Amino acid sequence: MPAETPAQTQTPPRQPQPKTFHVKSFGCQMNVYDGERMAELLAAQGMTASDERDGADLVVLNTCHIREKATEKVYSDIGRLRRADGSTPLIAVAGCVAQAEGEEIMARAPSVKVVVGPQAYHRLPEMVADAAAGKSGTETDMPAEAKFAALPKRRRSGPSAFLTVQEGCDKFCTYCVVPYTRGAEISRPFADLVEEARLLVAGGAREITLLGQNVNAWAGQDDKGRAIGLDGLIRVLAADPDLARIRYTTSHPNDMSEGLIAAHGEIDKLMPFLHLPVQAGNDRVLKAMNRSHTVESYLKILDRVRAARPDIALSGDFIVGFPGETEAEFQDTLDLVGQVRHAQAFSFKYSPRPGTPAATMDGQIAAEVMDERLQRLQAALTRDATAFNQASVGRRCQVLVERRGRHEGQWLGKSPWLQSVHFTGEAAIGDLVTVDLVQAGPNSLAGQLVG
Ligand code: SAH
Ligand code: SF4
Ligand code: F3S
Repeated sequence: MPAETPAQTQTPPRQPQPKTFHVKSFGCQMNVYDGERMAELLAAQGMTASDERDGADLVVLNTCHIREKATEKVYSDIGRLRRADGSTPLIAVAGCVAQAEGEEIMARAPSVKVVVGPQAYHRLPEMVADAAAGKSGTETDMPAEAKFAALPKRRRSGPSAFLTVQEGCDKFCTYCVVPYTRGAEISRPFADLVEEARLLVAGGAREITLLGQNVNAWAGQDDKGRAIGLDGLIRVLAADPDLARIRYTTSHPNDMSEGLIAAHGEIDKLMPFLHLPVQAGNDRVLKAMNRSHTVESYLKILDRVRAARPDIALSGDFIVGFPGETEAEFQDTLDLVGQVRHAQAFSFKYSPRPGTPAATMDGQIAAEVMDERLQRLQAALTRDATAFNQASVGRRCQVLVERRGRHEGQWLGKSPWLQSVHFTGEAAIGDLVTVDLVQAGPNSLAGQLVG
């Protein structure tokens, strides 16, 4: 669905340098982190952030390529940016669609003047300046380390901050575009991360979520030159007295080291929550997905994590309708879900992605079959999430206050188990308050402020 015809933009009009910008992020937490960094970059150039994209001189669409729907959303959004008088703001497409489609984006949507991939967005300000002067540009190089070095220092942060520590993926699951859009696995250096965490805490963060496409593959050297893994990094960050909570996501079962599992029992500030995608509950399907774990090895990891931290909340990702998946194999996924009892989980219909091996596999599953399987899986996951929340009723816990609720005097925050909790009373954003959990639904809990 072309957003417009190429004829409309044969002579690129010069636009004045943009003064206001709006960044919209479509993807995962790493994509959100990139969106924050791009906003910081543009602000450092003297531009002003605008909450609404209508009216902003520059709109950055920070895109996601993971499923077809996510990609198509970008093009409908580009179309919607056209103003009543036919003009558009300066449009930049960043993120994983930019990496995957490159210049094709401008061919399909000529109102886009800048295309910049996830490892090259430190170049955004100069590309925007060029585009405003009439010179469109595409940049999809992958020098991840150069990017981080060129970004401005972190200054302000909300109570819960993201910190990308690892990027890229070498796992090549047969359905997935991430290894192509994000490149090879790299770990950011220890010293840079300690510094960025310190700045985030100084800027207001009480909680930091360490991010990576395979965050538990992070490896580095501490300040004494010793080789450490993610657990070692968490240990160092936990020593900051002003940082209250640490989380990490997303993990791959293969990189779930003994040290990281043990850390869940040893580091109080490491929250009792683990997002460990399994994707399917059948070994033949897992093999065809190139997941490199089996149902048994996955369940063993969970046993060890539960032994280290009995109250851990477990989360995962699932794909239904992978090519060749039979009803019996899908049933195995339901059985696995019944065994694990996730606190929350994400589930998706398989979406064939251009260039991935699974897209051309035999046995592509009909849409109606996928719909029906997804419904059954989601019913099971909702049942388990509701049960997990109900089992929390009666618990006393700390809630990190993140924002105001819809009702007068109401606040919203997160429990240690990443549940959304709402309560009313005296509080402020960034407070860690004690609440009694008194009522539960599938997606949130009501709390009563203590003291
Ligand atoms: N690195 C993470 C996941 C990144 S993508 C991991 O390995 O777990 C987030 C989730 O999107 C995946 O866990 C998977 O469940 C889903 N996903 C990825 N590619 C997909 C595709 N082609 N179709 C449907 N879901 C997909
Ligand atoms: Fe994609 Fe697999 Fe890598 Fe996760 S581990 S990002 S699902 S290729
Ligand atoms: Fe999407 Fe890229 Fe993240 S494809 S899920 S934004 S790594």
